[in-house]
Amino acid sequence: MNYPKANEFEKLIEDLLENKEFQKTKLKKHHGLTRYDHSMRVAAYTYKVTKLLKLNYKEATCAALYHDFFLDEVEEENGLNRLRKHPEKALINTKKYFKLTPLQEDVIIKHMFPVTLTPPKYKESWIVDIVDDYASVIERINWLKILISNKFKKMQLTQSYIIVLLLKIINIK
Ligand SMILES: [Fe+2]
Ligand SMILES: [Fe+2]
Repeated sequence: MNYPKANEFEKLIEDLLENKEFQKTKLKKHHGLTRYDHSMRVAAYTYKVTKLLKLNYKEATCAALYHDFFLDEVEEENGLNRLRKHPEKALINTKKYFKLTPLQEDVIIKHMFPVTLTPPKYKESWIVDIVDDYASVIERINWLKILISNKFKKMQLTQSYIIVLLLKIINIK
């Protein structure tokens, strides 16, 4: 039996996805979805853009997949500080499981520029930084749409319930 060959993007990340710790990011909420799904989206976009621009797409795609790889939340009251500190957390955590190149380290540690003040060193790091922002905006809009539609459904349900109740009252009388 011939199975269809996985595409290059899937082959590039298949070993990385087997990491048990990385699999746990499926349990972490992130922009209304899971951190795993967000990382997969950023990796997929990075793969497309960096390959199109003939950059080091292999290293960039793998680093994009790890850019938010951490499981414990950043313990900071201040939201801005949480944003600033998580790239370092992701880098330290990723280095426990994978050997990173200088480009990959730069991608992870700089992905929140300009919130973190040092600009990216490589073109690939700039792309992951921009792609991550783009993915975050899409994910937040989708999340908002779901929230609004759920609220609307709840409102419709409440209205239907009130109508049924009123009809029952009218019938009783
Ligand atoms: Fe991040
Ligand atoms: Fe991210």
